Parts: sequence; structure tokens; C-alpha cells
Amino acid sequence: MQEQIAKIKENALEEIKNVQDAKSLNEVRVKYLGKKGELTQVLRGMGTLAPEERPIIGSKVNEVRELLENAIKEKEEKFAQEALQRKLESETIDITLPGTKIKRGSKHPVNRVIEEIEDLFVSMGYDVVSGPELETDEFCFERLNLPKGHPARDMQDSFYITNEYLLRTQTSAVQARTMLANTEKTPIRMICAGKTYRREDDATHSHQFGQVEGLVIDKKERNVSLADLKGTLEVFVKKLIGKNCELRFRPSYFPFTEPSYEVDVSCFKCGGKGCNICKQTGWIEILGSGIVHPNVLKMNGYDPEEYGGFAFGTGLERLAMFKYGIPDMRYLYANDIRFLSQFDRKDEEI
Ligand code: DAH
Repeated sequence: MQEQIAKIKENALEEIKNVQDAKSLNEVRVKYLGKKGELTQVLRGMGTLAPEERPIIGSKVNEVRELLENAIKEKEEKFAQEALQRKLESETIDITLPGTKIKRGSKHPVNRVIEEIEDLFVSMGYDVVSGPELETDEFCFERLNLPKGHPARDMQDSFYITNEYLLRTQTSAVQARTMLANTEKTPIRMICAGKTYRREDDATHSHQFGQVEGLVIDKKERNVSLADLKGTLEVFVKKLIGKNCELRFRPSYFPFTEPSYEVDVSCFKCGGKGCNICKQTGWIEILGSGIVHPNVLKMNGYDPEEYGGFAFGTGLERLAMFKYGIPDMRYLYANDIRFLSQFDRKDEEI
């Protein structure tokens, strides 16, 4: 029996040595160590042995079993290592290859300006509101003290869709909408940026452009004055364009404000000396503003005896040109990637 065990050991070790994969290794295990395996059979046959021989054979079998188990385990580990190695090799990534660059879009300079203005006014307690681009004559003109036939309507050549509907020529229409919508007649502090349209198409005007409107209305006793308007506009323009620019207030006329002012800012190109951009004057007009006309308050549900306030409106393109030193407005609408990608940076870097 000793011989038989030695033979089993020898054969099994040989087979384990030659086995090529995990599956065959398992077959070898079953063949020798399984329930009906050769070594197990030896144990079963021990009944026929003399009692004194049993412990000797028993321990011999156990010794061989342990030996075979270790050999199998070792081989298993080798297979596992090899499998891992193959996997790592087949899945290697060459990290030295240059990656594919993802192209990022950039915010349009006009949109950057809108966001900055909104942030600034929100920080001063204003609400951001909006209104329709397809507007009615009533809100665009009548409720702003511009009745039909008023000569000032000629200042704004309009795209009429029907007798009553037109593409809004000014964001001032939103002033009337905000006042009327505020049924409680509480104080108003609003800012509204959006598209506006006029029937002009020459070298310096586009049929579509952007405006921002601001409106503040409060109780008379709170004394919202021209000084507040001036202070607000100074903060606005200096924050947006730069603290070194200068502002000039000129008396003007708008039907919805009385008194009215146009605001000029010192030319961004020549700094006030005079150049082709400012038509040699050193100044560029950027804003219309004034104290809200009593008729406008009355027509939109605010008693002018009880309430007062100021309003202002400005063109977005001009502000963007000033802020970023863009010499020609047409760049803003040419969709030229060479121009637009210059704004593909963080704000503070520009
Ligand atoms: N809506 C005027 C325009 O388009 C600009 C303007 C002037 C707006 C005076 C105002 C204002 O709110 O008070 O020319």
C-alpha cells in the first residue's frame, strides 16, 4: 500500500506540473483528492489493513494530501498571476498620446455685459424683469406719454406688424408693464435687459440691438431725486467700464421723463482728446434718463402726488464696445470665431 501511495504521489505531482490551465488543474484535483479520487480511495480501503498499520498509512495519506493540495494551490496562484498579467497588458493605455481637445464655447460680449449689469443692480436691491419683444403700441408708446401723432414717435422708426402690434423699439415699454403689474403699488426698483428693433440699417445702426432699462419709483417722502439718479448712473458706468471714465449730463428731451438728461462718457479710445470713434468730440453718448413724467405715473396707476422716481435706458452694444475696447459694432454680429474666441476666458483675465 505504501508503494501505491508513492505512485499516486509521483503521478499526481507530474500531472500538476504539466497542467496548462485552471480547468485541467481542477480535473487533476478531482482525480486525486475528490470524493472518488485515487487518494481518497486509499483511505477507504484501510479497513482491510492490520490495525497497527492503519495509523502509519493514514498519516502517510494525509502527508501526501497536504503536499498535493499545496502543489495545486501554488499552481493556481501562478495561473491567477498570469491571467492578471495578460489583462494588464491587453488593457494598457498609452498616456503619452496627446488627448483630443474639447472646444469650449464662449459667452458673447453682449451677454457678458448683461450679466454684469444684472449682478450689479441686484447688489443694489433691484429686481431683474423682462417683457415681450412683440409689443403693443399701447405699452411701447401710449403709456409712456407718447400718444398717436406725437412728433417724438418719429425718433423711433418702428416695425409695425399690425396697427396695434410692433417689435418693441425700446425696453422702456417694460416700465409701463412693471408699474401696471404691481397692483399693490409698492415701491419699484427694476432692471430689464433685452432686444429692441428699429427700421434703420446703415453703417452705424443695426435693425436689432440691445437695451437695458432701469426704473425706480418710491413714495414722495422718500425723495428719490436727480442726485440719486446721477449717483446710480455714476456707480453703474464706472463699475462696468472703468473708474477712470468721466460722465457728462446734458439736458435733453424724452416724452416719459421730465426733466430729461442724456449721459455722455469720455471716449474709451482717445480718453477725451478727440478721435474718429467719438467724432473728435472726446465724448460718446450712452444713456437716456430723467425723472419719471407725472403723466407716465398716472397712466400706469401711480398717483404723481404720492409717488416719484427716475428712469434710464442705455444701448448694450455701446457698453460692450467701451468695456472691451471693440472699435466696430459690426464685430458683435459677424459671428467671427476669431473675434468671439477672444472672450473664451475668465472675466478677470479680460
Ligand atoms: N428709451 C429711450 C431710447 O430708446 C432711452 C431712455 C431715455 C430710456 C430716457 C429711459 C429714459 O428710461 O428715462 O432712446
